[in-house]
Amino acid sequence: MAGIQLRSVEKRYGDTWVLRGIDVSIADGEYVVLVGPSGCGKSTLLRSIAGLNDITGGAIHIGARDVTRVSPRDRNVAMVFQSYALYPHMTVRENLAFPLKIRKDPPAAIQAAVAEVAGMLELGALLDRLPGQLSGGQRQRVAMGRAIVRRPDVFLFDEPLSNLDAALRHHMRVELKRLHRRLGATVVHVTHDQVEALTLADRILVLHQGVVQQVGPPRELFDAPANTFVATFLGSPAMNLLPGRVDDAGLSVGGVALGWVDGVGKAVRGDVTVGLRPTDVVAAAPSSAAGASPWVGAVDVTESLGAEALLHVEIGPHKLVVQVPEPSPWRAGAQVQVVPRRVHVFDPGSGRRL
Ligand SMILES: Nc1ncnc2c1ncn2[C@@H]1O[C@H](COP(=O)(O)OP(=O)(O)OP(=O)(O)O)[C@@H](O)[C@H]1O
Ligand SMILES: [Mg+2]
Repeated sequence: MAGIQLRSVEKRYGDTWVLRGIDVSIADGEYVVLVGPSGCGKSTLLRSIAGLNDITGGAIHIGARDVTRVSPRDRNVAMVFQSYALYPHMTVRENLAFPLKIRKDPPAAIQAAVAEVAGMLELGALLDRLPGQLSGGQRQRVAMGRAIVRRPDVFLFDEPLSNLDAALRHHMRVELKRLHRRLGATVVHVTHDQVEALTLADRILVLHQGVVQQVGPPRELFDAPANTFVATFLGSPAMNLLPGRVDDAGLSVGGVALGWVDGVGKAVRGDVTVGLRPTDVVAAAPSSAAGASPWVGAVDVTESLGAEALLHVEIGPHKLVVQVPEPSPWRAGAQVQVVPRRVHVFDPGSGRRL
């Protein structure tokens, strides 16, 4: 196994920049999840690590080796794509054995490796089937098995679970966690799924327009997002952003003084962008002394999500999403007192956390 070092990696197609100045060290055995909006460069970064596309600047090291100009087959990485790309005319057994066959491993070793991986992924009963005779989840496990059987230094997963239904996704997510613990492999995993990112990652890397926005443990990105992009990208429903101001009396939003709400640094003064998570708010009846918040608004729309509900609250010109437990007493049109428990404060120009 081996770690990965990305040193000032950049990728351009003509004058179109796809990756810019990517500097990240991934430790041996670490599980890194790569997230970001569509087109931000996630697959390009993964393909660059695999050697499936060349980079226009910088260097990539895997373990102690500079692999920048090493061909994909000599990098000892395995990539699992969203489309499983199994060989349709080969059985599961032959699909699993294929990477070892082209490596010219001895037949007995191939047989043993296939049996071990089939056991690990519960594919034993499916070995003689063709991919067309498998469910999506089973195919996905075969694709994973074909990657594992080579015992690569690094696994690269590009949205490997996105074709599965919710139940199977959850199942495979847990399997991936188990597998990672068992193999101790270094993994870079691209996903659009927040839960996948938060549950699997040792560290999450957020990419936006080819630039790394923040890298850190899920909790850290959630509790202390480096900028408004990360703040609104992670967390569902998204963090509310409002224009505000901090003076000697603390924070005010739309002229309403909220005081020194937790999260407002004592040294901050001037115009700010206020970030408020829907979960960092308490909703109370306007007359109650729950927080005696001067922030009172009207419920515009409510959405029930089962265990909790989202209230869309209008306070003056601002709209705020607030999460409350179900059963919720709030109906559209009701007046509600909004008590912010914790806020994040950002520079309104750069979007950086203050
Ligand atoms: N061969 C190419 N020539 C020119 N531009 C390309 C090429 N391949 C990719 N791009 C561009 O690079 C950018 C990043 O693409 P990439 O596939 O890495 O995005 P992504 O983050 O994986 O997106 P998604 O979440 O939709 O899979 C996109 O704007 C894409 O159009
Ligand atoms: Mg992609």
